[in-house]
Amino acid sequence: MNTTSAPAKPGRPRALAITFRLLRGCMQGEWRRTLLGGVLMLLGTGVSLLQPWPMKYIVNIVAGDHTPRFIISATRQIDAILPIGHAATGQITLLCAALLLISLLGAGITVLSTWILIGVGLRMVYRLRCRVFDHLQNLSPAFHDATTVGDSLYRVTWDTYAIQAIFNEGLIPGVTAAVTLAGIAIVMIGQQWILGAVTCVIGALLLVFLRRIEKPTTNLSLRVHENESSVSTRAEQTLSGIRTVQSFGRETHESARFARQAGESLKNNLRLTLLQTAGQSAVGVLFALGTVVVVWLTAQRVIDGQLSPGDVVLMVGYIALLFKPLESLAYTATSLQGAAAGAHRVFEILNRQPNPADSPDAKPLTVPSQGQIEFRHVAFAYPSRPPVLHDININIPAGTSVAIVGPSGAGKSTCISLLPRFYDPSDGQIFLDSVNIRNITIAALRAQIAIVPQEPVLFDATISENIAYSNPHAGEKDIYDAAQAAGAMPFINRLPDGMRTMIGERGVMLSGGEKQRLSLARAFLKDAQILILDEPTTGLDAQTEAELLAVLQRLMLGRTTIIISHQLHTVQYVDQIVVLDQGRVVERGPHHELIEAGGLYQKMHRLRHRSHQPFSEVL
Ligand SMILES: Nc1ncnc2c1ncn2[C@@H]1O[C@H](COP(=O)(O)OP(=O)(O)O)[C@@H](O)[C@H]1O
Ligand SMILES: [Mg+2]
Repeated sequence: MNTTSAPAKPGRPRALAITFRLLRGCMQGEWRRTLLGGVLMLLGTGVSLLQPWPMKYIVNIVAGDHTPRFIISATRQIDAILPIGHAATGQITLLCAALLLISLLGAGITVLSTWILIGVGLRMVYRLRCRVFDHLQNLSPAFHDATTVGDSLYRVTWDTYAIQAIFNEGLIPGVTAAVTLAGIAIVMIGQQWILGAVTCVIGALLLVFLRRIEKPTTNLSLRVHENESSVSTRAEQTLSGIRTVQSFGRETHESARFARQAGESLKNNLRLTLLQTAGQSAVGVLFALGTVVVVWLTAQRVIDGQLSPGDVVLMVGYIALLFKPLESLAYTATSLQGAAAGAHRVFEILNRQPNPADSPDAKPLTVPSQGQIEFRHVAFAYPSRPPVLHDININIPAGTSVAIVGPSGAGKSTCISLLPRFYDPSDGQIFLDSVNIRNITIAALRAQIAIVPQEPVLFDATISENIAYSNPHAGEKDIYDAAQAAGAMPFINRLPDGMRTMIGERGVMLSGGEKQRLSLARAFLKDAQILILDEPTTGLDAQTEAELLAVLQRLMLGRTTIIISHQLHTVQYVDQIVVLDQGRVVERGPHHELIEAGGLYQKMHRLRHRSHQPFSEVL
């Protein structure tokens, strides 16, 4: 499955631009800690730069070269308190102690700064995750129609770690390495300009090299992220349809498909690893080259008597110190590319405009809606699909009911999804109490509407939490009343924990009729002026259907109701029937008029009474 088809067309992520955007978006409140961590990090680097010096003096003492006066006097003073010997032995003991102290200090500072900076990185992941999750919830159904849940899941949970990688593996080591390099270069130039020059040349070669491998690394990283996301999508799709998989015995097929996806990811991951390792090894070779040049040049000068033997050790020490930042720069560059790929996928979501969004002059409703609805010349097409609705005109006076009937695929569900603005019409307008719904805030609009969808959508929570989903402020009594009104109490009472029974993912532990009753109880509890029912009794047996119809009639009382139904006995009692065929209103009127008119409705009615199949299947 190609998950790139989901949101925007992926351009190649630009690591630097992405880094800045991420930091700007997620650094709130972290600047001070970052600064503290950064300063500590640099301090640690400074301490580590001291390391080669005691070594230089030790070698010089051993080689019988002259010892600087400050070491001699320090040794004497310490010897007076703690006998370490004031001659060469004492000096070497002191210098070894200094070596150890420098290491300890460096280690302590590194632990502290890493802890602070990793904390900053993780808090940025937290912030980014919350933002992406919020944003995903606000994106239109059109976005979610075109994106798999597995892919969105992966972007929220894993791709968001990119910001930590960028910050903790990219930016911080990058800056530290750059500063260390500069420090080493300065020390070296101070000692011997030619050595500083060698360092600079190696640095430049490294930069050229890193630029060369940037593009393939980024592309490969992006592919790995996509592969990984496909793996999670595959698992999610198979597991959420596990009953179907098992009932058709398709486990082997699913396993093979999963293995294919996972294998694809493995292949690209291996390639990426090869590229990254090769990149880092190349840095190692550059380092060896630098060491050879520096050692050769320094040794020549020692022989000429310009430098002491300890200076060879000092220079080799600095080259070794040089290697660490060079290596981390190379690593930074490659991991930054990988992280940029993840961040890019996060931005593909954040860049999406919540659609439809509130228009700038949208207002909340000042008085509760009367529930008068009008569709005026409404047309609609799903993105990159042919139109499914043409010139729909429906007027529903407040408090009355309308049934939309018609063959399957006629556009009935689409039509009602325009009212809560899950989608916006491509042409024409919809009015609520004579106000264009585009001029009402989406929150206010949706507060007026209770929807009972064709497939009840329940969450893995208790019965009472599921009912209260439509009204989180409802008290226990309200929930009970709603359940009672929806005729759900008899079966709830039979459950082990009553209202507190957990019902499993998507309500798997309930029957179709029981789920539908909970869905109706939700609508009762919401107590909205407008009620939308999409084939609420499809797939239920005659007995359950009859019971639910009684509930529905209670629910419809005093509300503006739009009901999609194939149950003609329901439809007979509504005020107005609209017959939809291929996206057009072909007939409208009350039941008896339509029967007399002898059109599509009468034909459906006749077929319905001949067989007991729903007419959508007969047609
Ligand atoms: N999310 C969607 N994206 C693209 N096309 C869709 C989507 N939902 C429905 N359709 C198409 O729109 C047409 C009308 O569908 P729908 O409104 O569900 O019909 P009905 O509810 O009358 O059976 C169908 O041809 C269907 O394939
Ligand atoms: Mg439908």
